[in-house]
This record gives sequence, structure tokens and C-alpha cells, in this order.
Amino acid sequence: MTAQGPDPRFFDLWSHFYDVPWVQRLTYRPVHDAVLGELRARRPARILDVGCGTGLLAARLGRELPRSVVVGCDFSRGMLRRAARHRRLRCVQGDALRLPLRDQSFDALVCTEAFHWFPDPEAALGEFRRVLAPRGRLLLALVNPPFAVLGAAARAGSRLLGEPLRWPTRARLRAQVEAAGFRVEAQTRVLRLVAPLAFPTFLTAASRSD
Ligand SMILES: C[S@@+](CC[C@H](N)C(=O)[O-])C[C@H]1O[C@@H](n2cnc3c(N)ncnc32)[C@H](O)[C@@H]1O
Repeated sequence: MTAQGPDPRFFDLWSHFYDVPWVQRLTYRPVHDAVLGELRARRPARILDVGCGTGLLAARLGRELPRSVVVGCDFSRGMLRRAARHRRLRCVQGDALRLPLRDQSFDALVCTEAFHWFPDPEAALGEFRRVLAPRGRLLLALVNPPFAVLGAAARAGSRLLGEPLRWPTRARLRAQVEAAGFRVEAQTRVLRLVAPLAFPTFLTAASRSD
């Protein structure tokens, strides 16, 4: 188990249900569409997906951006076993807080619906910056509640369940991303049916500020 973070075995278990089509359509697909739209405009050569889960987004990026090399990274063996079914997808097992990847080895880094699970967001952002090339792009999608009190309530509830998460407000996330050495370009709402008012999802797009 990582310090104060969820146990990878929680995600190993979750991996059995993750690819159910209606779950994907209601929750993750709109986020993946938004990320793909952003990447299509720039077509980065090397893309890293941190917290790639079963590899659905990473594999889709590989198919729809065939000139890009896509690598998925996750700390859950169960998730990665499923990701391995996507034949041409490269995956590595690793913790977002200590990415087993070289400095400046990617032009874009995506992280969808995973960042809120990382027990030390600042350390993760430091790692994102380290593995991105200068001016490399960061696409971070997660729930950003409109008020900090909603994030605090979600955190308290998740702690009770033993798997603590952090959903920062958009302003808080922007401040964290900028403090880590990125310039935030946009924070765009992702429309989806699940909890759209209290717990909306945003895609934060940023680039390494050097
Ligand atoms: C909700 S899933 C999202 C999967 C995928 N990004 C998507 O959009 O479908 C969250 C993923 O984050 C991974 N994860 C959580 N904490 C992690 C950590 N510290 N390091 C690496 N992966 C982590 C989990 O194993 C899980 O696969």
C-alpha cells in the first residue's frame, strides 16, 4: 500500500467491472473524447497515460493518432492485465509518485479520473513535469467540485470507506498545477450525466512553463 493512498488491490478488484460498456459510456467515455479532441489538434509524438487503468483511452489514442507512440502506466496489476489485451499498447507498472520513466521522455501526458487517487498530488505533478519535454502538454481530467466543502465531504466519505480521494476545486487545482511549473491554458467542463452539478468533471490543459 502507498502512504495514505488507496491500496492497488482495490483497483485490481475494480478492473473486473471497469470495461462494462454502460459504465464506460456514462462515466469515462466523455472524458476520453475530450482528451482525444485536445490531442488531435497537436498530434504529440510521445504520449504517456498515467493511471491508464484497463488501457481503453491509451489504446484508443494509439488507434486514432497512429503516428504517436503511446505508453500506459498504472500501479494495479489487475488493471494492467486487462490493458495487455490491447495488442499494440505498451504498458509499464509504476506509481504515479515515482514514475519508472526517463526525464523529458514524453511530449504529452494525460491523466483521466486518476489524479484524485494520488496521495501526494504535488509529488505526482513534479513527476509529470520531470517526464515531460520542455513545453510538453499536460491534460488532467477529474472532478472539480464548485466548493471546497463538497470536496471535503467526498474526502471524508471516501476515508470512511478506506480508499481516500481528493477532489480539489478548479481554482485549487490550477494553483497546484502552476506551482509545479506549468502554465494552465484552459479548464473545460466535460459534459456527462453522472453527478453533473455537485461533482462536475473538468479537463485542465497546461504546458510545461519553460
Ligand atoms: C478510475 S481509474 C481511471 C482509468 C483511466 N485513466 C480511465 O480514464 O479510464 C483510476 C486508475 O488510477 C490508478 N491509480 C490509482 N492510484 C495510482 C498511483 N498512485 N499510481 C498509478 N496508478 C494509480 C488505478 O489503478 C486505476 O487504474
